[in-house]
Amino acid sequence: MFRRFVLSTVLAVTLCLSFSFASAQGAPRDAEGHEWWQHAVFYEIYPRSYADSNNDGIGDLKGITSKLDYLKQLGVDAIWLTPCFPSPQVDFGYDVSDYQDIDPMYGTLTDFDRMASEGKSRDVRIIMDFVMNHTSDQHKWFLDSKSSRTAKYRDWYVWRDGKGSNRPPNNWLSTFGGPAWKFDAKTGQWYYHFFYPEQPDLNWRNPAVEKAMFDVTTWWYNRGVAGFRLDAVDTLFEDPELRDNPVLPGTNRYGDPNMENKYNTKLPELHDVLRKLRKVADEHGAVLIGETWTSDITELKKYYGEHSNELQMPMDLMFATVNKVSAPEFRRQIAAVDGAGGWPVYVISNHDIPRSYVRYGDGQHNDAIAKLMAGLYLTLRGTPIIYYGEEIGMENNDPKRKEDVKDPIGKLGWPQEKGRDGERTPMQWDDTANAGFSRSKPWLPVPPSYKTHNVATELKDPNSILSFYKQVLALRHTSHALLDGQYIALNENDPNVLSYLRKYKDETVLVALNMSPAAQKVSFDLSAQGLSDAKAKTLVTSMSQSQQEATLTNLTLEPFGVYIASIAK
Ligand code: NOJ
Ligand code: CA
Repeated sequence: MFRRFVLSTVLAVTLCLSFSFASAQGAPRDAEGHEWWQHAVFYEIYPRSYADSNNDGIGDLKGITSKLDYLKQLGVDAIWLTPCFPSPQVDFGYDVSDYQDIDPMYGTLTDFDRMASEGKSRDVRIIMDFVMNHTSDQHKWFLDSKSSRTAKYRDWYVWRDGKGSNRPPNNWLSTFGGPAWKFDAKTGQWYYHFFYPEQPDLNWRNPAVEKAMFDVTTWWYNRGVAGFRLDAVDTLFEDPELRDNPVLPGTNRYGDPNMENKYNTKLPELHDVLRKLRKVADEHGAVLIGETWTSDITELKKYYGEHSNELQMPMDLMFATVNKVSAPEFRRQIAAVDGAGGWPVYVISNHDIPRSYVRYGDGQHNDAIAKLMAGLYLTLRGTPIIYYGEEIGMENNDPKRKEDVKDPIGKLGWPQEKGRDGERTPMQWDDTANAGFSRSKPWLPVPPSYKTHNVATELKDPNSILSFYKQVLALRHTSHALLDGQYIALNENDPNVLSYLRKYKDETVLVALNMSPAAQKVSFDLSAQGLSDAKAKTLVTSMSQSQQEATLTNLTLEPFGVYIASIAK
C-alpha cells in the first residue's frame, strides 16, 4: 500500500502542498510556506482536571495559568481547552448554556484574558472547543425555542411531529443511548438530540443559527484565541426527510439495536459550513481542528476540503484506534494519512478514549511502551496533539462501582460501558495527597500510580517518560527534518520494527521503533536515498545501552526501544 516516492518528486510535491495549505490571509508563513500550527505541538487540557487554584476539587483557569511555565518547558506551543463555558455540566461542559462567558467554577473572563496574555508572553496559544452541533437545554435559545411553536427561536432547533401517540418521528438513536428524540408535552412536538436529551441539536439549515455561531468564533478570535477544536462536526446536519436509518444485526452497549447512522451523520451539507467557518478563521490567522471520526482515508480527506479550504487539522482518530503495538498496523495507517494530501494530525489519546498507557501497555513494559509511542507520534510528519498526562504515563482510573460513576454514559451503560471518568482524572503533579492537584477531595480520584508517575518525580529522573518527552520535543522544535521533512518508510516488511526517515534537503533523521517485547536486530540500506555508507549519530534514545554512533547495517534495539539518529555521510 505504501507509496515510496522518488526523492525529487516528493520534495516538489511536499512544497507544493505546503503552499496550498498556507492560505490564511495575514497568517505569517515561514520560508518553507508553513504556518504556525504546522510546527506547533498541541496539548489538550481537560480544565476540570488540570490544576485547582482555589482548592474546591475542580480545576480552573487560574490553575492552568500557573502551569504555563511547565507547559513551555515541556515543549508545548498551543493548548486546547475542552469546554469551560457556562454549562449545567451534564456532559461536563459539552452542554454549553452561554458561548461567550466562562463558567464560574473555572473562573471569569478576566481570568481567561490573563491566561491568554500569559500564554502570549510565552508563545503558547489558546485553542477553544467549539460545540457546534448542540447547545445545553438551558441555553436561552432553547428555553425560548421550547416555549411555543411560534417562538422566535423555535426553528433554531430540530422540532418535528411524532408518528402518532408516543412514537418519535423516526428510528434514530442517540449515540449516548436511547432514542434521539424527546417529546415536549407543552408544544406537542419532539426535538432531536444526537447526544444527551440535555443537548438539543441546533438547526444548521437556519441561516440565523449559522450567523450566531460564526459570530461566537469571531468574538473569541478578537479575545486572542488562536483557533477552535470543532466538536462532533459530522453530526451537524440531518436528512430533511428524516428517513429511518438502516438497522444492523445485534445490540450496542446500551441494549439498543445497532444502526448505521446513514441519515444523521456526515451529510455533505456540513462541508459548506466548514468552508465558511474556515473563511472566518482565515481572516484571523486561526486554525480549525476537527474531531473527525472517520472509517477510512477517503472520509478523512473530505475534511481537508477539495481545495484545502475546510479544516487545516482534521484529527486522524484512526491512528488513535490502532489498538495494539503493531509495526505493520501503524505503518499502514501512517502511510495512508501521510499520502492523503493534507497535513496529518496525530493523537494517541483524548478525554473520550482510554489512555494510551493502558491501551498499549502490556503490564510489563508499560513505561518503555509509553516512550515508544512518544517516539512515534512526536516524530511523524504532521502535528501531534498530546493529551494531558500522557507525558508522565498517566493510566486510566476507571470507577469500580456504579455509584461512583460521574459520566452519564457510564451510569446508563454499566457495567459494559463504564463511561469516560477513567481517562479524565486529575493531573498528577507530585506524590503528595491528591497528586498535588488540589488540597480538597478532587472531583475524580487519582490512581495509586501517582506516587511514581507524577511531574515532580519524573522531572528529577533523566530516564522518566517525562524526560523522554522533553528530549523528543526539544529535538522536534529544532530539527528541520522533523519539522518539514518528508516521511520515508524503511524496511516495510519488518513485522517488529517500525522505521522511517524524515528527510529535509540534506538533513536526514532516522527513527527506529521496536514494537516487540524482544530485542531486535535491524539493518538499513539507505542507498536509494543516496546515503550508502552513511553514519548514524544518536540524537535521542530510550535504550539503556546507548552509544553515540551506530552502524546502520547492524543495530540492536532493546524491547520496545526507540532509536532516533541523524544520518550523514
Ligand atoms: C465529543 C466530545 O469529545 C465528547 O466528550 C462529548 O461528549 C461529545 N462530543 C458531545 O459534545
Ligand atoms: Ca477550582
